Amino acid sequence: MRLAVAGGTGMAGAHITAVAHERGHEVVVLSRSTGVELLSGAGLQGRLEGVDAVIDATNVTTAKPDVSVSFFAGATKSLLRAEQLAGVRHHLALTIVGAEAAPDGYYAGKLVQERLVSTSDVPWTVLRTTQFHEYAAMMFHRSHAGAHVAPAGRVQPVALHEVAEHLVDLAEGEAAGRTTDLAGPREESLADMVRRYARAIGYRRPVPIVHTPGTLGRALRSGALLPGTTALRGVQTFSEWLDALPDA
Ligand SMILES: NC(=O)c1ccc[n+]([C@@H]2O[C@H](COP(=O)([O-])OP(=O)(O)OC[C@H]3O[C@@H](n4cnc5c(N)ncnc54)[C@H](OP(=O)(O)O)[C@@H]3O)[C@@H](O)[C@H]2O)c1
Repeated sequence: MRLAVAGGTGMAGAHITAVAHERGHEVVVLSRSTGVELLSGAGLQGRLEGVDAVIDATNVTTAKPDVSVSFFAGATKSLLRAEQLAGVRHHLALTIVGAEAAPDGYYAGKLVQERLVSTSDVPWTVLRTTQFHEYAAMMFHRSHAGAHVAPAGRVQPVALHEVAEHLVDLAEGEAAGRTTDLAGPREESLADMVRRYARAIGYRRPVPIVHTPGTLGRALRSGALLPGTTALRGVQTFSEWLDALPDA
């Protein structure tokens, strides 16, 4: 198959691209560093010729709803328009379990993305997953006033290589609409994950627990971002992911 991975140079996108290559697919990577600016559409023309499916793993780092909505709406519209012109028969979006529980920050953009995809004429699949194991690293490195902190929360993190395998499986099949969610094997304390990650990379100072403000903080602490009982469960635990870190 010929697969396009939008955001194929990013954290999730690199895993998706690697899995697609391992399976012998031809991969077209769409990102600014490969000459495609999705918000303006610059560089996109001609890149989707002969593409069977597009997996969207693009992202913007923000907690602001307007920035998130503007990015995900812009990138999604641009991709769907180009897919229609090129006759692509399958668009896949990677989104987040429980996004509606915190609709006034970053997740606002994810909800708009899902709405645009699910009302598009391009046959589609939306896969929601829980936080990746890497979320612990992201939270640790996002320091507050120069200090590293560990946000309180209940999460069920999943391995990115399992997300990538599943997305490529889905891309190899027919468009499935909103498909079954994918989560990790067990619930973890986010604060504990961040502290264990800090120790694993050799950080020895205290990492205080904080309560993230607003709806995201409440969603994290209440368990609203945990998967339902019907979600698929991955295999790799957070501990196994941590043990496999190069710095561990
Ligand atoms: N983090 C989690 O725990 C989690 C959980 C579930 C789902 N997700 C979803 O997974 C997706 C991927 O997240 P990630 O953290 O892997 O992303 P990431 O590492 O931030 O990568 C973002 C990608 O998007 C590309 N990109 C950004 N702006 C672009 C633009 N204007 N035009 C073209 N390409 C652009 C970047 O490449 P260039 O910089 O070269 O343009 C990069 O390849 C997101 O949609 C996120 O919501 C994340």
